[in-house]
Amino acid sequence: MTSFKALRIHQAGKSTSARFDRITLDDLHAGDSQNTVTIRVAYSGLNYKDALAVTGKGRIMRRFPCVAGIDLSGVVESSDSPAFKPGDPVLVTGCYIGEVLDGGLAEFARVPAEAVVPLPENLSLFEAMAFGTAGFTAALALRRMLDNHQSPELGPIAVTGATGGVGGIALGLLKRAGFSTAAITGKKHQAEYLQQLGADQSEHADRDARHRTRRGAAHMRRAGGRKRAWAQRRTHRQPVRPKSWGTSPCRSM
Ligand SMILES: NC(=O)c1ccc[n+]([C@@H]2O[C@H](COP(=O)([O-])OP(=O)(O)OC[C@H]3O[C@@H](n4cnc5c(N)ncnc54)[C@H](OP(=O)(O)O)[C@@H]3O)[C@@H](O)[C@H]2O)c1
Repeated sequence: MTSFKALRIHQAGKSTSARFDRITLDDLHAGDSQNTVTIRVAYSGLNYKDALAVTGKGRIMRRFPCVAGIDLSGVVESSDSPAFKPGDPVLVTGCYIGEVLDGGLAEFARVPAEAVVPLPENLSLFEAMAFGTAGFTAALALRRMLDNHQSPELGPIAVTGATGGVGGIALGLLKRAGFSTAAITGKKHQAEYLQQLGADQSEHADRDARHRTRRGAAHMRRAGGRKRAWAQRRTHRQPVRPKSWGTSPCRSM
């Protein structure tokens, strides 16, 4: 195969820079896996983490140079694993691609077979990455809430960081699952947008005003630090013992 285009992050001293390189399959790092799958990439979502990696504003990359892109969808080109054959539509999300292993912002990717998920029948390659890892994260959060016996009768769910990737998709998912939602946002003029996404109510909360926001039955965490601590204090405790999930591998859904 001839060379192909890849968006790689390079390290120069203490800073990093991103540029399009022409590379070959031999340049791709897929870890120590004996079974790798080579994928002709169709789409990769542009994630918060990708933005941090490409701009150098966050320490995302742990190997240099490394192809950016923490997820991808595409078609199998070749496979060492009997689980996949050329032509299979697949997706990969997380599993260290775009951080340690070369990622999805390239024309081709080679990844460990364990990281590859067959594309669900009801999703196109485009849709899988339009939802992307942010959508997958929101879906995992909802699944965990349901496993922990959260139900619409317990009251509305507060979603923080509501205009963001994870928060926005969470609003739609919760609505479809029958929950009412309260979108908590730092943006004053986004009430209509949040309603379109599925919010039943929205509340503007600057750093100090969050303490005045009403109680919810649960909150879907988008934020860390003070915002999460605030939301946890305001969340009703449930009488049931939450189920322990342990580590939830990205490919489990
Ligand atoms: N995307 C993923 O796949 C994924 C997976 C796992 C974990 N996470 C984590 O979830 C968080 C959000 O990810 P995301 O993809 O939803 O990010 P995003 O699209 O950039 O959304 C971030 C949202 O957070 C709110 N926010 C609060 N303080 C902010 C500040 N100082 N600057 C900018 N925004 C601020 C904003 O919403 P409001 O203005 O509406 O409050 C903003 O829209 C990140 O911490 C990320 O590490 C994301």
